[in-house]
This record gives sequence, C-alpha cells and structure tokens, in this order.
Amino acid sequence: MDSCFLIVVFVFAFSLSNGESTLKFVSVLYRHGDRSPTETYPNDPYKESDWPQGFGQLSKEGMKQHYELGQFLMERYKGFLSESYNQHEIFIRSTDLNRTLMSAQANLAGMFPPDRCEEFIPGLKWQPIPVHTVPEAMDCLLSFPLRDCPRYTQLMNETEKSDIFQNMTKNNREFLEMVRDKTGLDTASVDSVWFVYDALFCEKNHGKSLPDWVTPDVMEQLKVLKDFSYQIMFGVYAQKEKCRLQGGLLLNQIIQSLSAAADPHTKQQLKMMVYSAHDTTIVALQEALNVFNGLQPPFASCHLIELHQENGTFSVEMFYRNDSTVSEPYAESLPGCSQRCPLEEFKRLTRDVIPQDRNKECQIKKEASDAEDVKSKLVRILGRTRSKQVNEMSDCMQRCFSLPV
Ligand SMILES: *[C@@H]1O[C@H](CO)[C@@H](O)[C@H](O)[C@H]1NC(C)=O
Ligand SMILES: *[C@@H]1O[C@H](CO)[C@@H](O)[C@H](O)[C@H]1NC(C)=O
Ligand SMILES: *[C@@H]1O[C@H](CO)[C@@H](O)[C@H](O)[C@H]1NC(C)=O
Ligand SMILES: *[C@@H]1O[C@H](CO)[C@@H](O)[C@H](O)[C@H]1NC(C)=O
Ligand SMILES: *[C@@H]1O[C@H](CO)[C@@H](O)[C@H](O)[C@H]1NC(C)=O
Repeated sequence: MDSCFLIVVFVFAFSLSNGESTLKFVSVLYRHGDRSPTETYPNDPYKESDWPQGFGQLSKEGMKQHYELGQFLMERYKGFLSESYNQHEIFIRSTDLNRTLMSAQANLAGMFPPDRCEEFIPGLKWQPIPVHTVPEAMDCLLSFPLRDCPRYTQLMNETEKSDIFQNMTKNNREFLEMVRDKTGLDTASVDSVWFVYDALFCEKNHGKSLPDWVTPDVMEQLKVLKDFSYQIMFGVYAQKEKCRLQGGLLLNQIIQSLSAAADPHTKQQLKMMVYSAHDTTIVALQEALNVFNGLQPPFASCHLIELHQENGTFSVEMFYRNDSTVSEPYAESLPGCSQRCPLEEFKRLTRDVIPQDRNKECQIKKEASDAEDVKSKLVRILGRTRSKQVNEMSDCMQRCFSLPV
C-alpha cells in the first residue's frame, strides 16, 4: 500500500511541473472503428452469416483502431488531463449503436489503462468508464442526417434536380446500369451506390475475394460516386441552410461548451467532451464549419476542437486525424480565420449555421401567393406569432441541450 501511495504522489507532482499548457477545453468527435457491412446487395455471395457478429458490428480491427486512437489522445493531452481517469474531467457521449458504444469503450481502454493501484483485478489493464447515450429516436445531437425536418427533405429533393447532380447521373448512366445488373438491385443511383461500395470495401478489408466484375477501376468509380453522396448530404447545394437544420445543432452544443470553459466565473471542471459517432456526424460538423475535404471520413477518424488561452484571450484550434500512419493530425482552419482563431471570431464566423428556431426553420415555406398566405406572412413579419413559436421548442431539442456543457 505504501508503495502505491508514493507512486500517486510522484504522478501528481509530474503533472504539476508539466502545467505550462494553455489548453482549456477539448471537444473530440470520432467515427467508430472498422466494422462489417451494414447491409449488402442481393447478388452478394457473402451473406450476413459470413460475418462473426452479423452486419454493422465492430470488428477486432475496429477495436484495435480505437484502442490506438485512445493511446494517441492520452499522449497528446497528457498533463492537461489527469493520467488517471477523473470523472469530473471527461464526459463521453455515444450514439445508441453497438459499434459506437463499443468503439468508445475500446478507446477508453487505450486512454486510461489503470496503474497498479487502480487495478481492481491485479493484472487486468482495464477499468470501467461510463459511456452515455440516448435512444436513437431521441438523438438530435449525433445521428445525422436527422429525419424530422421536412424543409431538409425538400432541400435534398432540390439537390437532386441541381445541374451538378443531374450531370453526375448523366455522366455515370452506363456505369450505374452495369452496377444495377451485376448487383441485382432494382435501381442504382448516385446516392444509393454507397452501400455497394461499402460492402465491397469491408469484404476486401477482411480478405474476402471480390466478384470478377469488381475491377480496381470499378472500385474507383464507385468510390467517386460514394464520396459525392457524402458531399451532397450537407453541401454542394444550399449548404448553409442544410447545415442550420443538421450539423449546426452539434456545432452549437460545442460552442456552448467552449464558451462555458472560457467564462472567467466558470466552476466547470469538465476538460474534454467526447462524441462517439459516425462518418455522417463528422461530415455534418465539418460542413457546418466549412472545412469538409469531400472524402468519406475513414474508420476511427477524429475531429478535434481545442480551446486555448493566451494572455487572457481565448482562441480555437482544429485538427483532423483521418490517418493513423501520419504522425501529426491535419490542422484545419475556419475559412476567413487563422488556424488559431480568436473565440469571438470563431463564433461570429459560424453564426449563420446556428439555427435560431429549428422547428420553425424545418417547416416548409409556403409561397405567399393567395390572400391568406399574404395575411399570415404579414402577421409573421409583425412578430405577433413569434413568442409562441419560440416557446414551441420540441422535447427532443430540450433533451439535446440539457446535456452538460
Ligand atoms: C446490438 O446487439 C444486440 C445484441 O447484443 C442486437 O440484438 C442488436 O441487433 C444490435 N444492434 C445494433 C444496432 O447493432
Ligand atoms: C421529396 O421527393 C419525394 C419523392 O419525389 C416526394 O415524395 C416528397 O413529397 C418530396 N418531399 C418534399 C418535402 O419536397
Ligand atoms: C458536367 O460534366 C462535364 C463532363 O464531366 C464537365 O466538363 C462539366 O463541367 C460538368 N458541368 C457541371 C455543371 O457540373
Ligand atoms: C485526410 O485529410 C486530409 C486533409 O483534408 C486529406 O488531404 C487526406 O487526403 C485525407 N486522408 C484520408 C485517408 O482521408
Ligand atoms: C502574450 O504575451 C507575451 C509576452 O508579453 C507576448 O510575447 C505574446 O506575443 C502574447 N501573445 C498573444 C497571443 O498576445
């Protein structure tokens, strides 16, 4: 017992002497690790039973990726975070899917292996750490695209009529017909080929041989179309408005956390907020920040947002770790700001993608063509209905924003 006590004192002293960091708060958003396909096409020779846990489940490779990411995070934030798990410092929120919950756990195993004193079973290099979630139907923070928004559906319909989408379809017509015939799908469109690519990609990763029609060129063309489907989700057409209805919600939550950490009167002890989610979550956030590189985020990729303090002023830095073989994550900067962006400037530049009244914005705007519409439009302009609408914040939104910030 005495030797344990001495080690604790030593670790504590070390972290104090290392305390020159200006870091105040970090938001971590990552995608789950390698998994089996989530679904497949009718003619696929590999069926759900060919995967150890069925479709959509985290693989051993995926666990390893997250264990490694957890080690990277602890190494990067050593001296900022206590080396031992401290419940006041870190909060982990996941979507309610097996693969994201398990990724968070594998990640935490890499971040916080217990030292000898913390081991509850001698020799077991693991300790339980809570991962929080809400049922998928109630998740309006991480499960993008949120389906509860008619205006967003309308914008996606308009996106499919845009020149760039029509052009993409036209340029790939023969290819899509070939894919449809080989896969046995009823239809193959630009935005539905992603799961064909995904199934083939997972099969290849797991040493399964691919059908003859899947040449490297076919894979490449599928990849281009698949990435395009990520680009149109929150970008390409009406990007700002799509982001207000989707990723702006998560960005708003993150900005609230940063602001709370920068508040001089804060009693907040929280240093790190971790979100365990999906490629679409990363794309939703990066499109809202206008830093998306147009490529589907790989397994276990991670978007970091750091709040720094220097001489009393606060600034925000962002990094994207999408490749564990590259030693440093890519620095990302908000368009119009330097990589170390003053917090107030960061807020000003993102103001347009933060929804003010999302319920209202999600309603489909009627053309004010007949007299009734003109009248209701006038009433709206005069603001008579405003307070009522503001009060109509849905349960879902209230749950979202009752998270710790
Ligand atoms: C998660 O795992 C449970 C069994 O533990 C299974 O019944 C369920 O279908 C899985 N759900 C998802 C979304 O992967
Ligand atoms: C979007 O398009 C679908 C299919 O064409 C249609 O059923 C739906 O009503 C449209 N939704 C909106 C909100 O425009
Ligand atoms: C349509 O596709 C052609 C051929 O790829 C390309 O040259 C052109 O720029 C595209 N136009 C639009 C509006 O995307
Ligand atoms: C990772 O992101 C960088 C910067 O956006 C990009 O250049 C690179 O191609 C990406 N790599 C992967 C594997 O997605
Ligand atoms: C902070 O203060 C130091 C010393 O006064 C100065 O060298 C440095 O440039 C300042 N940094 C900022 C961001 O103002």
